[in-house]
Amino acid sequence: MSPAKVVLAYSGGLDTSVAIPWLRETKGLDVVTLTADVGQPVDLEEVRAKALRSGAVDARVLDLRREFAEGFLVPALRVNALYEGVYPLSTALARPLIGQHLVALAREVGAIHIAHGCTGKGNDQVRFDLCTTSLAPDLRVIAPAREWKMTREDEVAYAARHGIPVAATRASPYSTDENLWGRSIECGTLEDPAVEPPEEVYDWTRSPESAPAAAERVVIEFVDGRPVALNGQSLPVHELIQQLNQAAGAHGVGRIDHVESRVVGIKSREVYECPAALTLIRAHQALEGLVLPRDLLEFKRGIERRYAELVYDGLWFTPLRSALDAFAVETQHRVTGSVSMKLYRGSATVVGRDSPHSLYRPELATYSSGDRFRPEMAEGFIYVWGLPARTWGATAAPPPPSSSAGDPT
Ligand code: ARG
Repeated sequence: MSPAKVVLAYSGGLDTSVAIPWLRETKGLDVVTLTADVGQPVDLEEVRAKALRSGAVDARVLDLRREFAEGFLVPALRVNALYEGVYPLSTALARPLIGQHLVALAREVGAIHIAHGCTGKGNDQVRFDLCTTSLAPDLRVIAPAREWKMTREDEVAYAARHGIPVAATRASPYSTDENLWGRSIECGTLEDPAVEPPEEVYDWTRSPESAPAAAERVVIEFVDGRPVALNGQSLPVHELIQQLNQAAGAHGVGRIDHVESRVVGIKSREVYECPAALTLIRAHQALEGLVLPRDLLEFKRGIERRYAELVYDGLWFTPLRSALDAFAVETQHRVTGSVSMKLYRGSATVVGRDSPHSLYRPELATYSSGDRFRPEMAEGFIYVWGLPARTWGATAAPPPPSSSAGDPT
C-alpha cells in the first residue's frame, strides 16, 4: 500500500522546502505541493522544479490572480477593509483563497492531511487551520515549523543532507510575503518599533524623498463599487491593480509602518507596501462619500471595521462574513463613477470625483447666485432639533458629590 498523502502549501522558500523530506521522514507521508500565483514575483516553474527536487511526489502550480482579485480583493474594497485602520489585509486575504485550493487538491489526490509552513507565533497558522476546519473538518492540519525544534542553521544543515539547494547569497534578515494587494516585511532591524525602517526593506515603492518632483494624476472608474478602468482603459481587476501598484509605487505611495495586534495576542512591528490597495480604498471612499447618504456611510463604517477584523482573524469561511458581504453588495449599486487621484511624493490624494448618482446638488451647496436652499426654514428646524439639548440644559443639575465622602476622619 502506498503511503498516505499530505498537500503542502509551498512557497519555494527554505521552511517549506525542508518540510517536504521532514513530512516524509517524520510522518511517513507522500507530499503533494501546491504553489499559488497570487501576484508575487517568483518563477513558478522554478518553484515547481524545486518542490520535485526536494522530494515531492507531485507539484502543482495554479494561477489564482484573477480569482484572488475578483473573489477576495473586490469584496475587501467594497468595505474599504483596513485592519486597525491601517493595514489593507494583503496577506490575510490570500490565505482563505490558498486554503480553499489546498482542500480541493487534497480531495482530488485523496490526501488525508493539509500542511503549511507557518510558525506557531503568527496569524497565518490560524487562518490556514481555520480554513481547513471550516471547509473540511475531517482533514488534519500539520504545521511542521510548529513542531520541529530547528533553528535556521539546523534547517540549512537538514536541507544540505537532503540535497535541497539553499540560496548561496547571504539570506535576507527580513521575512516577506507578497501578492497583488501588497508586500509585507517583518524581522531584522524592524523588530525595534522605535527605529525607522531602513530604505533597504522597501521594494515596490520609491522613497517619497526621491520620488519625482512632478505629480501624476490617475483616474479610476468604478461600477457598483468595483474598479473597472484606469486612465480610461478598461482592465480586468487584477491587471488594474498591478498597473496601479507600479504607478503609485513610483511616487512613494503605499508605505505603512504598523505596530499590529496579532490574533495570538502578540504586538508585532509590521511594515507594508500597498500602493494600489491604499489608492483604491481612498478613491472608493471618496466615491461613496459622493453617492451615499450620511446614515448609511456611518452605519457601514461599523460593518467595515468588523469585516476587517474577521478577515484578519481567519474567519473568512463563516456565515458572518457572508452576511456582511450581502450587506456590502447592497450598498454598492450607486457606487459608479470616476475619481481622480494625485500621486505625489508619498501621498495619493483625491482631487476630483464624479458620478451619475451624485447626491451633490450645486443649487443647494452654492453660496453664489442660483441658490435654491431656503434658509428661513433653518430656524424652525433648529428649534425642534435642539429641543432635547435645550431641555437638558434648562433642568437643574444634581448637587456635586460631598467632598467628605470616604474621609476616614
Ligand atoms: N502581519 C501580517 C498579517 O498577519 C503579514 C504577515 C506576513 N508574513 C510575513 N512573513 N511577512 O496579515
